[in-house]
Amino acid sequence: MAGSVGPCATTDGRYRVSSKAYFEEVAQQWDTLRQGFFSEAVREKAYAVAGVQRGKTAADIGAGTGFVTEGLIQRGLQVIAVDQSGAMLTEMMRKFVDYGMITYRLGEAEALPIPGATVDYAFANMYLHHVESPSGAIREMARILKPGGKLVITDLDEHRFEFLRTEHHDRWLGFKREDVGRWFVEVGLGDVRVEAVGDSCSAESCCGDQIASVSIFVASGKKIV
Ligand SMILES: C[S@@+](CC[C@H](N)C(=O)[O-])C[C@H]1O[C@@H](n2cnc3c(N)ncnc32)[C@H](O)[C@@H]1O
Repeated sequence: MAGSVGPCATTDGRYRVSSKAYFEEVAQQWDTLRQGFFSEAVREKAYAVAGVQRGKTAADIGAGTGFVTEGLIQRGLQVIAVDQSGAMLTEMMRKFVDYGMITYRLGEAEALPIPGATVDYAFANMYLHHVESPSGAIREMARILKPGGKLVITDLDEHRFEFLRTEHHDRWLGFKREDVGRWFVEVGLGDVRVEAVGDSCSAESCCGDQIASVSIFVASGKKIV
């Protein structure tokens, strides 16, 4: 994820820290950074597309400090929050210490620490462009859905802002919507839709010479069996 504040690449273009180390480093500032990147309209769109219902169980994958989780618990859902970064989860636990509806799990995209067919919804906001294999991550999120469960991913449309990779460790410069839709279909999801959220992610390069504004998509699909 990109933003106006964050670690710069070294002068020869190498990353100063790894992607995982980046999130460990920015965990305590993430909520402030995040507010500069995108608005709450993104998660509102995700909840609406999913049709979230009180009493159901949702997984928030790449949960960070709980941007998506926060709205889910306000709507009366149980949440399993998964992230590779212990620092992000620690920050999230600090924020939601008074809420018993959240289970925290340290885990990686390729092997989510959630049994198969156990959640009603899986959400992933601004996570897909960080994982090594987006199609593999989608397969793994589909695995944990109950039959009839919904996968909802919000992420960046394809763009050309290389500084988001060098300065903020984005692995992918967004995605073509048709690729994301195809990956959903390939893992057996039905009712697949990929559409605009109607909001953008904004970011400024370290030296201030580039300003990115990238549209955000919401992709959704339903587990059939
Ligand atoms: C840009 S942040 C988004 C956090 C949160 N979803 C939000 O909207 O504020 C991406 C998160 O995905 C996590 N992440 C990145 N790659 C991951 C992976 N391979 N497995 C698990 N979590 C990962 C990062 O640690 C980070 O917390």
